[in-house]
Amino acid sequence: MIDFHSHFLPDVDDGSDSVETSLAMLHESWRQGVRLMFATPHFYADEDDPESFLARRSEACAQLREAIEVRQELEIPDVLLGAEILYFPGMSVAEELRALSMGSTPFLLIEPPMIPWRDTMLDEIEQTGENLRCIPVIAHVDRYMRMLRDASLFDRLRDRRVLTQVNASFFIHDSERALDLLRQNRIHFIGSDCHNMDERAPNMGAAEEIIRLDGASEYLGTINERIFSLLERQQQL
Ligand SMILES: [Fe+2]
Repeated sequence: MIDFHSHFLPDVDDGSDSVETSLAMLHESWRQGVRLMFATPHFYADEDDPESFLARRSEACAQLREAIEVRQELEIPDVLLGAEILYFPGMSVAEELRALSMGSTPFLLIEPPMIPWRDTMLDEIEQTGENLRCIPVIAHVDRYMRMLRDASLFDRLRDRRVLTQVNASFFIHDSERALDLLRQNRIHFIGSDCHNMDERAPNMGAAEEIIRLDGASEYLGTINERIFSLLERQQQL
């Protein structure tokens, strides 16, 4: 399984607050069957720039790498680096955002703000893909459906040149709808969006079990293939 969205890097955002927590999150993910995990720290353009973000991300990786070397017996997934970019007006001409893509893939994970979606925002996200020669992925669409109480959001993305990521919790809390969308190939990536080992802990295993029991495991294979076919090289820790 691939976890496409997580916050396990230590001390870079509101995710893991220590190297120990990061190791626990990685090991727990591995235990649940995750074999590749994208680190997607938050990127907020109004308080950060890509260059300093990348420096902080590298620093966090270096700390984690050191701890992994000491704990070589610990089983953990392979790790690739990415970002969760908060949408901002003007992002479609921010060429420097390309450096924040997911591993060596052209996928750019974009998080809309938690307010009703305007068409102009979706237009600009599509334009970002075109201008930056990347493929926008809308982060945790299910979370907006739940928090904005808007069941139409998936339909609004249907004819747009963007892909969708949902959280593993979608399968746990709204499994019928999640499985339907998975079978219609309208869910392109799944992530835990894990932040810690408490209330936002790794949970890909529970989602995988629901998908497997429903006989839909082949769709997880499709997701893996979508990622592996575009991964040129692994940026492992
Ligand atoms: Fe996130």
